[in-house]
Amino acid sequence: MAKHTITLIPGDGIGPEVAAAVVRIIEAAGVEVAWETHYAGAQALEKFGDTLPAELLASIKRNKVALKGPITTPVGKGFTSVNVGLRKTLDLYANLRPVRALPNVPSRYPELDLVVVRENTEDLYSGIEHVVVPGVVESIKIITEKASTRIARYALEYARREGRKKVTAIHKANIMKLSDGLFLECFYKVAKDFPEIEADDKIVDNACMQLVMRPEQFDIMLLENLYGDIVSDLCAGLIGGLGLVPGANIGELGAVFEAVHGSAPDIAGQGVANPTALLQSGLLMLRHLGERDAAQKIEQAMLKVFTEGKVRTRDIGGTAKTSEFAEAIIAAF
Ligand code: NAI
Repeated sequence: MAKHTITLIPGDGIGPEVAAAVVRIIEAAGVEVAWETHYAGAQALEKFGDTLPAELLASIKRNKVALKGPITTPVGKGFTSVNVGLRKTLDLYANLRPVRALPNVPSRYPELDLVVVRENTEDLYSGIEHVVVPGVVESIKIITEKASTRIARYALEYARREGRKKVTAIHKANIMKLSDGLFLECFYKVAKDFPEIEADDKIVDNACMQLVMRPEQFDIMLLENLYGDIVSDLCAGLIGGLGLVPGANIGELGAVFEAVHGSAPDIAGQGVANPTALLQSGLLMLRHLGERDAAQKIEQAMLKVFTEGKVRTRDIGGTAKTSEFAEAIIAAF
């Protein structure tokens, strides 16, 4: 019997192409996986009448881990995002985005290596909005002690597990004294249990300026939902864009690892997509599963291929196919 059973959602567009490459690399590294493949989004709607079929959710709840390719969200057809659906159904409260520059990829900060941890369930994204009187709308920001405490604990435990030195909470508690004040208070309370990790904080506007001028001062950044959404893309931009960075949504009921880019309909079916983002998400997944040696082996091989710069996909100036890039990584083990 395989050591791990993982739910695989290849997705659509370039999803199946990059997913196939990542599955190949993980298996070639010697990790024994039984993959349970499921459809989601438009494909699932056509086959099963539901964008998030019950079997898919049951599979993730059973396996507690999924690797997911991008899924097209049709515009204007009233089908809600599968990503939001997964996040809500499985209570995936922590969004993790490590941001690290890759060798030979144009980047403003080639040495950058930081991690963004974003609270995924509340804040202004609770979607509680109403019209007070015509011309006046109220949108409510919810911050709870429970969610703030668990995300702070997640960030600090991640720091401990990954040997990181510092967690910086980002907030606007000078203005939103109660809501962001509570978020900050919960962070410092939890930080007392992690004396070896430096805990500090910064106001979000200053943090953004510092990120552009001296991003190396950050190690792990901890943010509420809205600030986290914005700052995580800002950080991806510092190292060359969304195409290369991994992401994960993690909760008690399961963890979904995914690339943050979309289904790239403009290049789908051509075999030229870059699988790096999903591969890096796969590395996060392997570490989450305790397969640290295999993750290390794949990461070293991937960095070697980037450093040599001979096998590059089209998006970063090369001519290699998705499968050739995967082959090069396997050959570099
Ligand atoms: P996109 O990320 O799919 O594409 C933007 C540009 O980046 C395109 O030129 C594309 O060719 C390129 N690109 C993206 N990933 C690449 C890769 N791995 N290798 C090489 N080139 C790559 O963004 P877009 O066009 O805004 O969205 C397309 C669809 O994807 C939409 O339906 C959107 O809703 C969905 N989407 C899904 C996400 C998910 O499932 N996590 C995330 C973002 C968008």
